[in-house]
Amino acid sequence: MDPNRLKGKNILITGAAQGMGACNAEYFAAQGANVCLGDINVEGVNEVARRINAAGNGRAIAVKLDVTSRADNAEAVAATVEAFGSINVTLLNAGINKPLMFLDITEENWDMIMNINAKGQLLGMQEAAKQFIKQGKENGPYKIINVGSIVSRQAFLDVVPYSASKHATLALINGGAKALVEHNITVNGYGPGVVRTELWEQLDKDLVKIGMFEKEGQSMDHLAKTMILMKRYSYPDDVRGTAAFLCSPESDYMTGQLIMIDGGMIMQ
Ligand SMILES: NC(=O)c1ccc[n+]([C@@H]2O[C@H](COP(=O)([O-])OP(=O)(O)OC[C@H]3O[C@@H](n4cnc5c(N)ncnc54)[C@H](O)[C@@H]3O)[C@@H](O)[C@H]2O)c1
Repeated sequence: MDPNRLKGKNILITGAAQGMGACNAEYFAAQGANVCLGDINVEGVNEVARRINAAGNGRAIAVKLDVTSRADNAEAVAATVEAFGSINVTLLNAGINKPLMFLDITEENWDMIMNINAKGQLLGMQEAAKQFIKQGKENGPYKIINVGSIVSRQAFLDVVPYSASKHATLALINGGAKALVEHNITVNGYGPGVVRTELWEQLDKDLVKIGMFEKEGQSMDHLAKTMILMKRYSYPDDVRGTAAFLCSPESDYMTGQLIMIDGGMIMQ
Protein backbone atom coordinates (compact mmCIF):
# COMPACT_ATOMS: atom_id res chain seq x y z
CA MET A 1 0.00 0.00 0.00
CA ASP A 2 1.31 3.47 -0.92
CA PRO A 3 1.14 5.55 2.30
CA ASN A 4 1.09 8.76 0.23
CA ARG A 5 -1.52 7.84 -2.38
CA LEU A 6 -4.19 10.03 -0.76
CA LYS A 7 -1.88 12.65 0.79
CA GLY A 8 -3.43 16.09 0.56
CA LYS A 9 -6.98 14.68 0.46
CA ASN A 10 -9.24 15.91 3.24
CA ILE A 11 -12.25 13.62 3.22
CA LEU A 12 -15.58 13.84 5.06
CA ILE A 13 -17.21 10.43 5.54
CA THR A 14 -20.79 10.10 6.78
CA GLY A 15 -21.92 7.03 8.70
CA ALA A 16 -18.32 6.28 9.71
CA ALA A 17 -18.88 4.69 13.13
CA GLN A 18 -18.94 1.12 11.83
CA GLY A 19 -19.24 -1.06 8.73
CA MET A 20 -17.99 0.17 5.38
CA GLY A 21 -17.72 3.82 6.50
CA ALA A 22 -15.27 2.95 9.28
CA CYS A 23 -13.34 0.50 7.09
CA ASN A 24 -12.98 3.10 4.31
CA ALA A 25 -11.88 5.76 6.79
CA GLU A 26 -9.08 3.57 8.14
CA TYR A 27 -8.01 2.59 4.62
CA PHE A 28 -7.95 6.20 3.38
CA ALA A 29 -5.99 7.41 6.42
CA ALA A 30 -3.47 4.58 5.99
CA GLN A 31 -2.86 6.07 2.52
CA GLY A 32 -2.29 9.56 3.90
CA ALA A 33 -5.76 11.15 3.78
CA ASN A 34 -7.12 13.24 6.64
CA VAL A 35 -10.62 12.15 7.52
CA CYS A 36 -13.57 13.74 9.28
CA LEU A 37 -15.87 11.02 10.58
CA GLY A 38 -19.55 11.97 10.97
CA ASP A 39 -22.24 9.79 12.53
CA ILE A 40 -25.23 9.88 14.90
CA ASN A 41 -23.20 7.35 16.89
CA VAL A 42 -20.69 9.75 18.43
CA GLU A 43 -19.01 7.15 20.63
CA GLY A 44 -18.49 4.99 17.57
CA VAL A 45 -16.81 7.70 15.47
CA ASN A 46 -14.69 8.79 18.42
CA GLU A 47 -13.36 5.24 18.69
CA VAL A 48 -12.62 4.96 14.95
CA ALA A 49 -10.83 8.34 15.07
CA ARG A 50 -8.81 7.18 18.07
CA ARG A 51 -7.68 4.07 16.16
CA ILE A 52 -6.72 6.11 13.09
CA ASN A 53 -4.75 8.69 15.09
CA ALA A 54 -2.97 5.90 16.98
CA ALA A 55 -1.98 4.28 13.66
CA GLY A 56 -0.29 7.56 12.77
CA ASN A 57 -0.51 8.40 9.07
CA GLY A 58 -3.49 10.57 8.02
CA ARG A 59 -5.27 12.36 10.86
CA ALA A 60 -8.87 11.89 11.97
CA ILE A 61 -11.51 13.95 13.76
CA ALA A 62 -15.00 12.84 14.76
CA VAL A 63 -18.21 14.89 14.69
CA LYS A 64 -21.84 14.33 15.59
CA LEU A 65 -23.73 14.30 12.31
CA ASP A 66 -27.33 13.45 11.55
CA VAL A 67 -27.41 13.47 7.76
CA THR A 68 -31.09 14.48 7.70
CA SER A 69 -30.15 17.88 9.19
CA ARG A 70 -28.85 20.58 6.86
CA ALA A 71 -27.23 22.35 9.81
CA ASP A 72 -25.36 19.17 10.84
CA ASN A 73 -24.12 18.64 7.29
CA ALA A 74 -22.89 22.23 7.11
CA GLU A 75 -21.20 21.93 10.49
CA ALA A 76 -19.43 18.71 9.50
CA VAL A 77 -18.04 20.42 6.39
CA ALA A 78 -16.95 23.40 8.50
CA ALA A 79 -15.29 21.10 11.05
CA THR A 80 -13.34 19.37 8.26
CA VAL A 81 -12.09 22.73 6.96
CA GLU A 82 -11.25 23.95 10.43
CA ALA A 83 -9.23 20.83 11.25
CA PHE A 84 -7.45 20.30 7.93
CA GLY A 85 -7.59 23.67 6.11
CA SER A 86 -9.88 22.55 3.27
CA ILE A 87 -12.14 19.74 2.06
CA ASN A 88 -11.58 17.88 -1.23
CA VAL A 89 -13.85 14.85 -1.05
CA THR A 90 -17.12 13.91 0.62
CA LEU A 91 -18.18 10.27 0.88
CA LEU A 92 -21.93 10.04 1.52
CA ASN A 93 -22.08 6.61 3.09
CA ALA A 94 -24.65 6.84 5.91
CA GLY A 95 -27.65 4.63 5.20
CA ILE A 96 -30.26 2.36 6.75
CA ASN A 97 -32.63 -0.39 5.69
CA LYS A 98 -35.80 -1.85 7.22
CA PRO A 99 -37.47 -4.46 5.03
CA LEU A 100 -41.23 -4.81 4.73
CA MET A 101 -43.34 -6.72 2.23
CA PHE A 102 -44.87 -4.37 -0.35
CA LEU A 103 -48.44 -4.22 1.00
CA ASP A 104 -47.13 -3.70 4.55
CA ILE A 105 -44.99 -0.63 3.77
CA THR A 106 -46.01 2.25 6.01
CA GLU A 107 -45.57 5.97 5.57
CA GLU A 108 -43.18 5.92 8.55
CA ASN A 109 -41.01 3.24 6.94
CA TRP A 110 -40.94 5.10 3.61
CA ASP A 111 -40.20 8.49 5.20
CA MET A 112 -37.46 7.19 7.52
CA ILE A 113 -35.57 5.42 4.73
CA MET A 114 -36.00 8.16 2.13
CA ASN A 115 -35.01 10.85 4.64
CA ILE A 116 -31.74 9.26 5.69
CA ASN A 117 -30.68 7.61 2.43
CA ALA A 118 -31.94 10.06 -0.20
CA LYS A 119 -32.45 13.46 1.45
CA GLY A 120 -29.33 12.87 3.56
CA GLN A 121 -27.25 12.49 0.39
CA LEU A 122 -28.80 15.56 -1.26
CA LEU A 123 -28.02 17.74 1.78
CA GLY A 124 -24.50 16.32 2.04
CA MET A 125 -23.86 17.06 -1.63
CA GLN A 126 -25.18 20.62 -1.40
CA GLU A 127 -23.29 21.56 1.75
CA ALA A 128 -20.00 20.11 0.45
CA ALA A 129 -20.49 21.70 -2.98
CA LYS A 130 -21.00 25.15 -1.45
CA GLN A 131 -17.64 24.84 0.29
CA PHE A 132 -15.93 23.44 -2.84
CA ILE A 133 -17.19 26.44 -4.82
CA LYS A 134 -15.90 28.78 -2.11
CA GLN A 135 -12.46 27.16 -2.29
CA GLY A 136 -12.31 27.91 -6.05
CA LYS A 137 -12.31 25.62 -9.06
CA GLU A 138 -8.59 26.14 -9.62
CA ASN A 139 -8.02 24.15 -6.41
CA GLY A 140 -10.11 21.16 -7.58
CA PRO A 141 -11.07 18.70 -8.77
CA TYR A 142 -13.41 18.10 -5.87
CA LYS A 143 -15.15 14.80 -5.49
CA ILE A 144 -18.57 13.77 -4.25
CA ILE A 145 -19.02 10.02 -3.78
CA ASN A 146 -22.51 8.65 -3.13
CA VAL A 147 -23.01 5.13 -1.83
CA GLY A 148 -25.62 3.30 -3.86
CA SER A 149 -26.40 -0.40 -3.97
CA ILE A 150 -27.31 -3.25 -6.27
CA VAL A 151 -30.87 -2.00 -5.71
CA SER A 152 -29.95 1.32 -7.34
CA ARG A 153 -30.64 -0.54 -10.59
CA GLN A 154 -32.97 -3.44 -9.68
CA ALA A 155 -35.51 -3.20 -6.86
CA PHE A 156 -35.99 -6.24 -4.62
CA LEU A 157 -39.57 -7.05 -3.57
CA ASP A 158 -38.94 -6.96 0.20
CA VAL A 159 -37.01 -3.66 0.30
CA VAL A 160 -38.89 -1.35 -2.07
CA PRO A 161 -38.44 1.92 -0.09
CA TYR A 162 -34.71 1.14 0.28
CA SER A 163 -34.55 0.40 -3.46
CA ALA A 164 -36.31 3.71 -4.18
CA SER A 165 -33.83 5.55 -1.97
CA LYS A 166 -30.90 3.96 -3.78
CA HIS A 167 -32.47 4.72 -7.18
CA ALA A 168 -32.49 8.29 -5.85
CA THR A 169 -28.74 7.92 -5.29
CA LEU A 170 -28.32 7.15 -8.99
CA ALA A 171 -30.34 10.26 -9.90
CA LEU A 172 -28.28 12.38 -7.51
CA ILE A 173 -25.08 11.06 -9.13
CA ASN A 174 -26.26 11.65 -12.71
CA GLY A 175 -27.96 14.98 -12.06
CA GLY A 176 -25.34 16.21 -9.61
CA ALA A 177 -22.55 15.47 -12.11
CA LYS A 178 -24.31 17.60 -14.73
CA ALA A 179 -25.10 20.42 -12.31
CA LEU A 180 -21.68 20.67 -10.67
CA VAL A 181 -19.19 20.02 -13.49
CA GLU A 182 -18.79 23.75 -14.14
CA HIS A 183 -17.33 24.09 -10.63
CA ASN A 184 -14.73 21.34 -11.18
CA ILE A 185 -16.71 18.94 -8.97
CA THR A 186 -17.17 15.32 -10.01
CA VAL A 187 -19.96 13.09 -8.70
CA ASN A 188 -19.60 9.32 -8.74
CA GLY A 189 -20.64 6.42 -6.57
CA TYR A 190 -20.42 2.72 -5.96
CA GLY A 191 -23.00 0.05 -5.29
CA PRO A 192 -22.08 -2.75 -2.91
CA GLY A 193 -23.95 -6.07 -3.13
CA VAL A 194 -24.27 -8.21 0.00
CA VAL A 195 -21.74 -7.00 2.56
CA ARG A 196 -21.34 -8.51 6.01
CA THR A 197 -21.76 -5.47 8.30
CA GLU A 198 -23.99 -4.57 11.25
CA LEU A 199 -26.56 -3.39 8.70
CA TRP A 200 -26.81 -6.88 7.24
CA GLU A 201 -26.83 -8.58 10.68
CA GLN A 202 -30.00 -6.58 11.45
CA LEU A 203 -31.44 -7.12 7.98
CA ASP A 204 -31.00 -10.87 8.41
CA LYS A 205 -33.12 -10.78 11.60
CA ASP A 206 -35.74 -8.50 10.01
CA LEU A 207 -36.05 -10.76 6.94
CA VAL A 208 -36.99 -13.65 9.25
CA LYS A 209 -39.58 -11.44 10.99
CA ILE A 210 -41.32 -10.61 7.69
CA GLY A 211 -41.28 -14.25 6.56
CA MET A 212 -38.65 -14.11 3.79
CA PHE A 213 -36.46 -16.69 5.56
CA GLU A 214 -37.20 -19.37 8.15
CA LYS A 215 -34.14 -18.94 10.34
CA GLU A 216 -31.60 -16.28 11.11
CA GLY A 217 -28.27 -16.72 9.35
CA GLN A 218 -29.77 -18.05 6.10
CA SER A 219 -30.17 -14.90 4.02
CA MET A 220 -26.56 -14.12 3.10
CA ASP A 221 -25.68 -17.71 2.17
CA HIS A 222 -28.90 -18.05 0.17
CA LEU A 223 -28.13 -14.91 -1.85
CA ALA A 224 -24.53 -16.01 -2.34
CA LYS A 225 -25.69 -19.36 -3.76
CA THR A 226 -28.53 -18.10 -5.90
CA MET A 227 -27.67 -14.57 -7.02
CA ILE A 228 -23.94 -13.88 -6.73
CA LEU A 229 -21.81 -15.08 -9.66
CA MET A 230 -18.75 -15.40 -7.41
CA LYS A 231 -20.80 -17.52 -4.97
CA ARG A 232 -19.75 -15.61 -1.87
CA TYR A 233 -20.96 -12.53 -0.08
CA SER A 234 -18.52 -9.71 0.65
CA TYR A 235 -16.85 -7.83 3.50
CA PRO A 236 -16.03 -4.11 3.81
CA ASP A 237 -12.47 -4.93 2.65
CA ASP A 238 -13.91 -5.93 -0.74
CA VAL A 239 -15.34 -2.44 -1.18
CA ARG A 240 -12.61 -0.14 0.12
CA GLY A 241 -10.36 -0.34 -2.97
CA THR A 242 -13.03 1.11 -5.26
CA ALA A 243 -13.85 3.76 -2.66
CA ALA A 244 -10.17 4.78 -2.45
CA PHE A 245 -9.91 4.86 -6.26
CA LEU A 246 -12.85 7.27 -6.39
CA CYS A 247 -11.07 9.55 -3.86
CA SER A 248 -7.77 9.41 -5.72
CA PRO A 249 -6.52 11.41 -8.73
CA GLU A 250 -6.80 8.22 -10.78
CA SER A 251 -10.55 8.82 -11.13
CA ASP A 252 -10.27 12.52 -12.07
CA TYR A 253 -11.70 12.01 -15.59
CA MET A 254 -14.83 10.20 -14.35
CA THR A 255 -18.13 11.76 -13.48
CA GLY A 256 -21.77 10.68 -13.26
CA GLN A 257 -20.92 6.98 -12.79
CA LEU A 258 -22.17 4.33 -10.37
CA ILE A 259 -19.82 1.32 -10.15
CA MET A 260 -21.17 -2.00 -8.84
CA ILE A 261 -19.01 -3.98 -6.40
CA ASP A 262 -21.20 -7.04 -6.05
CA GLY A 263 -19.41 -10.20 -7.17
CA GLY A 264 -21.47 -10.12 -10.36
CA MET A 265 -25.09 -9.67 -9.23
CA ILE A 266 -26.30 -6.80 -11.39
CA MET A 267 -24.89 -6.16 -14.85
CA GLN A 268 -26.11 -2.97 -16.51
N1 LIG B 1 -24.24 -3.94 3.97
C1 LIG B 1 -24.65 -4.11 2.73
O1 LIG B 1 -24.83 -5.24 2.27
C2 LIG B 1 -24.87 -2.92 1.82
C3 LIG B 1 -25.13 -3.19 0.46
C4 LIG B 1 -25.33 -2.12 -0.40
C5 LIG B 1 -25.25 -0.82 0.05
N2 LIG B 1 -25.00 -0.59 1.38
C6 LIG B 1 -24.93 0.81 1.79
O2 LIG B 1 -23.62 1.08 2.28
C7 LIG B 1 -23.66 2.10 3.26
C8 LIG B 1 -22.98 1.64 4.54
O3 LIG B 1 -23.65 0.48 4.99
P1 LIG B 1 -23.09 -0.50 6.12
O4 LIG B 1 -23.51 -1.87 5.71
O5 LIG B 1 -21.65 -0.22 6.38
O6 LIG B 1 -24.03 -0.04 7.32
P2 LIG B 1 -23.79 0.07 8.92
O7 LIG B 1 -25.14 -0.03 9.51
O8 LIG B 1 -22.74 -0.88 9.36
O9 LIG B 1 -23.24 1.55 9.06
C9 LIG B 1 -24.06 2.66 8.75
C10 LIG B 1 -23.69 3.84 9.63
O10 LIG B 1 -24.57 4.92 9.31
C11 LIG B 1 -24.91 5.56 10.53
N3 LIG B 1 -26.17 6.31 10.39
C12 LIG B 1 -27.43 5.84 10.35
N4 LIG B 1 -28.31 6.85 10.29
C13 LIG B 1 -27.58 7.99 10.27
C14 LIG B 1 -27.91 9.37 10.20
N5 LIG B 1 -29.18 9.79 10.18
N6 LIG B 1 -26.90 10.27 10.20
C15 LIG B 1 -25.61 9.87 10.24
N7 LIG B 1 -25.24 8.59 10.33
C16 LIG B 1 -26.22 7.65 10.34
C17 LIG B 1 -25.01 4.43 11.56
O11 LIG B 1 -24.92 4.93 12.89
C18 LIG B 1 -23.84 3.55 11.14
O12 LIG B 1 -22.66 3.91 11.82
C19 LIG B 1 -25.15 2.44 3.43
O13 LIG B 1 -25.48 3.55 2.62
C20 LIG B 1 -25.85 1.20 2.92
O14 LIG B 1 -27.15 1.47 2.46
C21 LIG B 1 -24.82 -1.60 2.27
